[in-house]
Amino acid sequence: MCGIVGYVGDQSALGVVIEGLRRLEYRGYDSAGVAMLADGKLATAKKAGKLANLEALLEESPMAPATTGIGHTRWATHGAPNDRNAHPHVDCTGTVAVIHNGIIENFAHLRAELESRGHELVSDTDTEAVAHLLEEATRGGEVGLADAMRAVCHRLEGAFTLVATHADFPDAVVGARRNSPLVVGRGQGENFLASDVAAFIAHTRDAVELGQDQVVEVRRDGVTVTDFDGNPGEVREYHVDWDLSAAEKGGYDFFMLKEIDEQPQAVADTMLGRLDDDNRLVLDEMRLSDDDLREIDKIIVIACGTSFHAGLVAKYAIEHWTRIPCEVELASEFRYRDPVLTRSTLIVAISQSGETMDTLMALRHAREQKAKVLAICNTNGSTMPRESDAVLYTHAGPEVAVASTKGYLTQIVACYLVGLYLAQVRGTKYGDEIAKVVADLRAMPAKMQRVLDDLEPVRELARDLAGATSVLFLGRHVGYPTALEGALKLKELAYMHAEGFAAGELKHGPIALIEEGVPVITAVPSPRGRSILHDKMVSNLQEVRARGARTIVIAEDGDTTVEPYADVVIRIPQSPTLLQPLLSTIPLQVFACEMAKARGHDVDQPRNLAKSVTVE
Ligand code: M6R
Repeated sequence: MCGIVGYVGDQSALGVVIEGLRRLEYRGYDSAGVAMLADGKLATAKKAGKLANLEALLEESPMAPATTGIGHTRWATHGAPNDRNAHPHVDCTGTVAVIHNGIIENFAHLRAELESRGHELVSDTDTEAVAHLLEEATRGGEVGLADAMRAVCHRLEGAFTLVATHADFPDAVVGARRNSPLVVGRGQGENFLASDVAAFIAHTRDAVELGQDQVVEVRRDGVTVTDFDGNPGEVREYHVDWDLSAAEKGGYDFFMLKEIDEQPQAVADTMLGRLDDDNRLVLDEMRLSDDDLREIDKIIVIACGTSFHAGLVAKYAIEHWTRIPCEVELASEFRYRDPVLTRSTLIVAISQSGETMDTLMALRHAREQKAKVLAICNTNGSTMPRESDAVLYTHAGPEVAVASTKGYLTQIVACYLVGLYLAQVRGTKYGDEIAKVVADLRAMPAKMQRVLDDLEPVRELARDLAGATSVLFLGRHVGYPTALEGALKLKELAYMHAEGFAAGELKHGPIALIEEGVPVITAVPSPRGRSILHDKMVSNLQEVRARGARTIVIAEDGDTTVEPYADVVIRIPQSPTLLQPLLSTIPLQVFACEMAKARGHDVDQPRNLAKSVTVE
C-alpha cells in the first residue's frame, strides 16, 4: 500500500531515504515525502505524484544535511493524492513528523477530539491525527518518543505501520506496527526501518521481523523493541537470501520484463530441495505432521487477484491427485459468508506479499474457527507465514512490478508440491505416478525458457492490437484460470476491457459480445491424454470464429487441428494438461506488457494500483 523508510546513522539520511523510497515505489506512487532532522530542527518536503516530482522539488529547494530521517511513498486512502495530503504529517509545533501505512479507523473521532483541544489539522488524512496525539504525548519533549508512541498506539483502532521522528530526539526514529508490515535493517553504526527489506538491501541484509503490536526505537547504536505496554518484545532475526541485483532492473526497461524472464529460474528454485533423487516430495519445512495431513477432509484456498487464479489452478491438481474436496474462495468474501470450517479443514492462503489484508483477515478467521492454515508466500518476514500453522515459501526472489508474474507461476508450483505431498502422505497416488509428475515438473523450467525464447510474434501481435477496445480470453479446465489471468493482466496494464471466460459458458450469454474482429485468445489443452477437453475447446474456437472473432490460439507443438480455426497460433512445448499454465501464461504476460507499452502506459506502476494491498 504505502512505502515507509526510516534511517539513523552517519550517511546522508536524505540519500538513504530517497534510495529506499525508489525501491518501495511499487507500494504506492500517489505522492512522496520526507522529513529530516538537522541542527535540532525538523524539515519536511513532499509532493504529489511519483518520487521524481519530490526529487525535482528537492533539487530546487535543497534540505540541510541530516543523518536522521524518514520518507514515505503513498497509495491514497483518506484524502485526494495532492501535496497537502502527502506524508509526512506534522503537529502544530512542527516538531513531530509521522508517516503511516494502513487505515486508522477511529480517526474522525480522534480528529474531533484534537480540534476541540485547539489543534489545527490541515490535511484530509487519518494519519495527521497521530502527529498531534504524539505532540500531546511527548509533552514538549518531557516524555520520550517511544513512550509517547506506545501511549498513542493504545488509542488507535485499525491497521497501521507508523514511523515518527521528533526534533527533540534527533538520534532516534520510532516505529509501531499493527496488521501492517515493518522490518528493521541492522547495519554497522546505522539502522533502518522499512516496509520491506528492499529499501535497505543496498546497506545490509540483516533484518529483524517485528511482531504484532510492537514499538521499535531505532538509534545509530541499537534497536529496542517492546510491546505497546513497554514490555520487551520478541522478534525474529534473519538474513535476506537475495542481494541488491535482485531488486534492480538489471538492464531491462521494466521490472516486469525482468521478472517474466526470471520465471524458469524462479520455478526451478521453488522446487529446489523439495524433491529427492527418487522424485519423492520432501516438505519437512511445512510444520504440519503427516497425521495432521491425513486427517484433512476439506481444503479451501483463499487468495486475491492473481494469487486467486493460482488457487483455481491448484483446485484441479489437488482434487485430481488427492481426492480431497477443494474449494477456492476470494479472500475478501470468505469470512463474510460464515464458511463451514472444522479442525480437519486445511486452509491454503496464497499471497506473494504475505501482507494482503483481505487474505490476512480470512486467514485469521479460519484460525479462530480452529482450521489449519498453510501459507504459500514469497516474502520472508511477512505477516501471513508468521500467523499460519505451516508455510511453504515460493523462492521467486523479490517481485517489484505491480503485475505479478514470477510470483504467480511459483505459487502454482507450490500448489502442485502441496497436492503431490498430500497424495504421497495419504497414499492416493502410487509412488511411480507421483514420480512421473515430479519428472514432468522438473522439465518445466527448460520448456518455459523455450516459450520465452520465441515471443517476438506475441509482441508484434500486441502492437498490432494496441487499438482494440476489448479482448476476450477463453479456457477450459486449468485453461480457465489462465484465461482469467490473461484478462486481469490486460486490464491492469493496458487499461482496456478484457474478460476471461470458461469456454463452455460462452454460449450461455457472453457469445453475444463476439462481433467482427474482436480478438479472442485461447489456450488449448493438450490433444494427448484427456483429448475430450481439447476437442471441446476446438469446438468453442469454431463457434467464435464463425461469428467473426479474430482467434489467437496458444497450442502445443504438433497440434495441427487448431490451425484451420486460428488467425494466429502461438506454440508452446508439449506438457501434461495440469502443468500447462506454467507455459501458456507466459505469452499472455508478455502480450499485456507489450500492449501497455504500445499504449504508452507505465508497465511497472499501473494507475490506481499498489503492489501490496494492506487495507480491506
Ligand atoms: O501479495 P498478494 O499475492 O496477496 O496480492 C494479491 C493481489 O493483490 C495481486 O495478485 C494482484 O492481483 C496483482 N497486482 C495482479 O497482477
